[in-house]
Amino acid sequence: MLDLLADIQRRQGMGMLLITHDLGVARHMADRVGIMYAGQLVEKLPVDPENGLEAAFHPYTRKLMAAVPSLQRAGERLAAIPGRVPPLDQPFAGCRFADRCAHAFAPCAGTVPDWTGLAEDHAVRCHLAVQPEAVRKLETAQTLKMAEPGRASVLAVRGLAVTYTQRTGQMFGKKHIRAVDGISFELNAGETLALVGESGCGKTTAAKAILGLTPASGGEVELDGKNVAGLPERRFKPYRRLAQIVFQDPYSSLNPRMRVGDILQEGMAALGVGETARRSRAIAALLEKVGLSPDAVNRYPHEFSGGQRQRIAIARALAVKPRLLICDEPTSALDVSVQAQILNLLADLQREEGLAMLFITHNLAAVGYLAHRVAVMKAGKIVEIGSARDILVRPQHPYTQGLLASVL
Ligand SMILES: Nc1ncnc2c1ncn2[C@@H]1O[C@H](COP(=O)(O)OP(=O)(O)OP(=O)(O)O)[C@@H](O)[C@H]1O
Ligand code: SF4
Ligand SMILES: [Mg+2]
Repeated sequence: MLDLLADIQRRQGMGMLLITHDLGVARHMADRVGIMYAGQLVEKLPVDPENGLEAAFHPYTRKLMAAVPSLQRAGERLAAIPGRVPPLDQPFAGCRFADRCAHAFAPCAGTVPDWTGLAEDHAVRCHLAVQPEAVRKLETAQTLKMAEPGRASVLAVRGLAVTYTQRTGQMFGKKHIRAVDGISFELNAGETLALVGESGCGKTTAAKAILGLTPASGGEVELDGKNVAGLPERRFKPYRRLAQIVFQDPYSSLNPRMRVGDILQEGMAALGVGETARRSRAIAALLEKVGLSPDAVNRYPHEFSGGQRQRIAIARALAVKPRLLICDEPTSALDVSVQAQILNLLADLQREEGLAMLFITHNLAAVGYLAHRVAVMKAGKIVEIGSARDILVRPQHPYTQGLLASVL
């Protein structure tokens, strides 16, 4: 898509205003970048052909850059920005970023920062630009403790196949789409397997088949040692608890008419997890675990931001104490700083709970950050599987090499 846009732009001599929260896209596509925060531009800078956005100065821009996951940063905790964007229905006496800025100093709360030029085309709205001696050292990176994969097998998939039947438009005409075409892999407790591959290659379908949400047309899905593929719902139910999913879109995956407490309680009640009397205590503990305040139980999903909703979805999945968590592009609807919070949270939860995690994503950088192993899917098949380092550094299959080459 980006190549197409760049090509049309070249041929037609168009100007382009490209709105994105992907700094890689900004660097790749743009001549100049403007960074917005809380309704204002806070920094404007040209993209350097060599160093990209390295010259960025504003503490918010720097934080955004530090929040982008990458293989080089594997083992480091992603920089999340504490707090949230301030409400915009109030006048601001000082810098709008002040309550979240690690560098805030005396003038920040009381004086609105004005534009200061740093270089040609590069200007920033920050008091530090006028008083650079006030710059404190950037926080040193914290290390991320990745879970140690255990030996207990949680999931074994053997020759899993899913065929969809589609009408062709002619009378009685049907065609069969082999969305998943015989895939096999194993996953142990405490281990993350990333499933990557381009749109339409069958990742979500594979996840649904593992969870019994779409019927498999062949193969086996072994959950905790028992083949559950093709079990009728009644016999599948005891295994439902074992595997839970977090969906891509936190806006449509929570029932808008239910309070958060009920959302978390629903699965526990349906699957008989925990005693009724103890559930509210368990829910309070869960909310704390995913970083939400206890009063969230009485609120509705629309009262939360995208990142907070994804935390609710994660809490909902954890409520039934699963052994396998499937995350289907859990951060693709979120901006990089919120994505960093969610990825950090998933890494922490995995370590604490020893969860096996199947992490479906387009984002190869997040793979390097979170996954122990990677499986690359193409047209319904796994074409390459191995350790994250091997696959990201020395991909063997031409398709994997192509995928990596397209990372911005
Ligand atoms: N319910 C359905 N009926 C018919 N075909 C379907 C159905 N769901 C998915 N497909 C087809 O199956 C293939 C795999 O779809 P799937 O959603 O699993 O891809 P994906 O890898 O998750 O893609 P994305 O990265 O875009 O989410 C696609 O060709 C899709 O058009
Ligand atoms: S003006 Fe102060 S609070 Fe605002 S970004 Fe600069 S240092 Fe941080
Ligand atoms: Mg999908």
